[in-house]
Amino acid sequence: MKGILEISYLIGSITFIVGLKMMGNAKTARKGNLIGAFGMTVAILGTIFLYEKEGQTSREFFKIALIFGAIAIGTAIGWITAKKVEMTKMPELVSMFNGMGGACAALIGLTEFPHVAHQIQETGTGYSSMAFIIAGLVIGTISFSGSIIAYLKLAGKMNKPIRLPQYNILNNALLLVVIVFSAYVVLQSTSLPPAIVWALFVVAIVYGILFTIPIGGADMPVVISLLNSFTGLAAAFGGFLYDNKPMLTGGILVGSAGTLLTLAMCKAMNRPLSNVIFGAFGGGSGAAGADAGEKGTVKDVQVSDLAVQLNYASKVVIVPGYGLAVAQAQHVIHELEKILEERGVEVKYAIHPVAGRMPGHMNVLLAESNVEYDKLVEMEDINPQFAQTDVVLVVGANDVVNPAAKVDPSSPIYGMPILEVENAKNIVINKRSMNAGYAGIDNLLFYNPKTSMFFGDAKKALTELVAEIKQL
Ligand code: TAP
Repeated sequence: MKGILEISYLIGSITFIVGLKMMGNAKTARKGNLIGAFGMTVAILGTIFLYEKEGQTSREFFKIALIFGAIAIGTAIGWITAKKVEMTKMPELVSMFNGMGGACAALIGLTEFPHVAHQIQETGTGYSSMAFIIAGLVIGTISFSGSIIAYLKLAGKMNKPIRLPQYNILNNALLLVVIVFSAYVVLQSTSLPPAIVWALFVVAIVYGILFTIPIGGADMPVVISLLNSFTGLAAAFGGFLYDNKPMLTGGILVGSAGTLLTLAMCKAMNRPLSNVIFGAFGGGSGAAGADAGEKGTVKDVQVSDLAVQLNYASKVVIVPGYGLAVAQAQHVIHELEKILEERGVEVKYAIHPVAGRMPGHMNVLLAESNVEYDKLVEMEDINPQFAQTDVVLVVGANDVVNPAAKVDPSSPIYGMPILEVENAKNIVINKRSMNAGYAGIDNLLFYNPKTSMFFGDAKKALTELVAEIKQL
């Protein structure tokens, strides 16, 4: 039995690694996801049917029925929610699922605490298990409550960052309390009442909330992937506790992938990680500065003129942003690309690492409409090409092309690397109005003499544009 269980764990661990590797490429991502899910199923079934505690002689049918009942409910909720969710609501879903992972790790801690405390009392050993339990409990709980706040923010149910007076000092002091309290519970677990672990749970919930509520604007993606890595870490502590290899491997993979993603996001948004964890979080509250008169005038372009401009260009770069996802215009933009290419125009897409609302959002969106992967060019590679570009067509993007990031030290996005579209010969921006993007700040690019605004919902405007080009 034990040998087969070990094999099922090995299958679980290997498929997680292979699946994750395959998720690094849009072409193999779906298959990678399925392979990971298969490995998880094997590991779960192995644990339910093959794991034996010392001295255990039989399996309790009732407990197995309970486990399968819980799995059925969880699977149904997860399946239906994931099927129904719109692409633009994906970050909320990721946040919510991540929070559930954190809650699971916290529940393990709450359930196992009395058992391990009892074991320490009886044998005098088990302090390392207690340390794993408490670490998993605290980190999982912070991830749980933080992810729920992140969910509320992303779903637009908590719009403004809430900053208590001296929140920085308050948060760091509370973090210290959490650490000292945790160490105290580990060392004194045998003499403390079992309810103490619930007190620690509540303190960690409060810290998770206070940690996330001041965050707004451009720092949100960093925090979500950071919370993701917390959940992975909390699961890995569970793996140590139960000596369960797939739980350990899965937790470490999520923890390290989340950490790497956090660092990549920090780099893309030019914010040191220390600033995200302990420092001033990005506000995203920067308001429009000068009035329109001082900024210049806004020019708009008619669909017929734009069709001619694009049709006779040699090189066009499309900059997709959040608005493209909102409008669900990924199919029509692919049609535009194809029709232009048929007419000899070279078309590329410029991908900013934080365009949209989740890491890789634009890649996923464009893959949905079968845009060829090699047409997507990363920011570092496309920026030097803008000078040779006849027309840059910005569709539903705003912050990621905002020159304030380079020139205005008072801007909340100052220092964030941007797509330098202002170097192109002509800039056309499609959006519905002059409204700001996610960071809530004005964009001087709209007033650039080279810029023409092509107002309208992306799907509708691009459909008209394609029809117009077809007539040329
Ligand atoms: P944003 O700066 O958010 O701008 C999107 C623009 O799309 C808006 O100005 C909006 O203007 C326009 N829009 C909305 N619906 C539209 C529609 N139906 N048709 C045409 N346009 C539409 O987007 P971005 O440039 O992609 O930048 C992303 C921002 O989100 C960054 O600040 C980033 O830090 C933040 N963020 C990113 C992530 C990740 S990981 N990607 C996660 C959370 C936050 P109108 O209302 O005038 O149409």
